[in-house]
Amino acid sequence: MIAANDLKNIEHAAKLLKQEELVAIPTETVYGLAGNAFSEKAITSIYSIKNRPAVNPLIVHIKNKESITEIAKNIPPEAYLLAEKFWPGPLTLILEKQDHISSLITAGKNTVGVRVPNHELTLELLKLLDFPLVAPSANRSNHISPTMPEHVQNSLAEKAPYILDGGTCTSGIESTIIGFENEEIILYRHGSVAKEEIESVLNRKVKSIINDADSPKSPGMFKKHYSPVTPLVLCRNLAADLAANSKKKVGVICFQNYLPTYDKTHQRVLSAAGKLEEAAAKVYSTLYELDAKGYDLILVEAAPNHGIGVAINDRLTRASF
Ligand code: TXA
Ligand code: MG
Repeated sequence: MIAANDLKNIEHAAKLLKQEELVAIPTETVYGLAGNAFSEKAITSIYSIKNRPAVNPLIVHIKNKESITEIAKNIPPEAYLLAEKFWPGPLTLILEKQDHISSLITAGKNTVGVRVPNHELTLELLKLLDFPLVAPSANRSNHISPTMPEHVQNSLAEKAPYILDGGTCTSGIESTIIGFENEEIILYRHGSVAKEEIESVLNRKVKSIINDADSPKSPGMFKKHYSPVTPLVLCRNLAADLAANSKKKVGVICFQNYLPTYDKTHQRVLSAAGKLEEAAAKVYSTLYELDAKGYDLILVEAAPNHGIGVAINDRLTRASF
């Protein structure tokens, strides 16, 4: 069920979490399927409800940056700099794990992903708990990430847990994932903080290792991911791709301007003002909406490939067939 944002419901969610049950929580990026990070039962049910492969580790959500040492050790100075600048916010740091962090969370690795989410409701919830929350996106594995409570219900269907309604996620694309290896700063996943912003805070270059192999460094980065049920194609030239599919029922997602030659009722625009932030906030909900319309094909125009446009295009590439 979807529970309104009030104290009574937040307290009820806290009670469920203390009983090792799961709750869907809002964050600024996407909704998370949350459980007690210190409960094997909760962690195991996250994997099973999502139908998530065990090789894909989970992110630990903490209430403030001071709690980082409860989760990680040997934390490099650059990690503190980034936490100071971006937390609470859409940045996940990959750090050496404390011994007591379950290998079920980290998929057997000695590193752990950690972040402070920037959503008032979830921060309030975390303050009622004496444990952090592990939370992957609250969609079934390989489906579209949820940015509204209704998406969680749609994607997890009868397996959906108690859902706290925190409204529409403001960033709309998952957190950026940064790690530290052999004196290098590594970007494992493009996300709501642009690579350029990280480089400017650290005043040095960040190396992208976006893995798609069988044993990827950041194992969630499978090539096929984030997809609607309807086949999707990411386009550099929308008009040409539409013409090539003239026999099909096609839904079109434009970045800034409608295609003048096509029926507007089958089109959506991500940002009429051409703003990457607005497009990021809308992209998953637009996919959910068009996916429900029974098209043969969804064509999406690529975003300008800089700033968080890179993260938008990354997700759309993974969503395409
Ligand atoms: O914005 C977000 O990060 C959202 C919200 C709910 O916080 N969460 C999210 O979780 O996107 P999920 O499970 O859908 O993606 C987690 C990503 C995966 O790609 C996973 O491989 C990576 O984080 N990850 C987690 N722990 C890792 C580790 N120790 N080393 C490398 N990658 C890790
Ligand atoms: Mg996910």
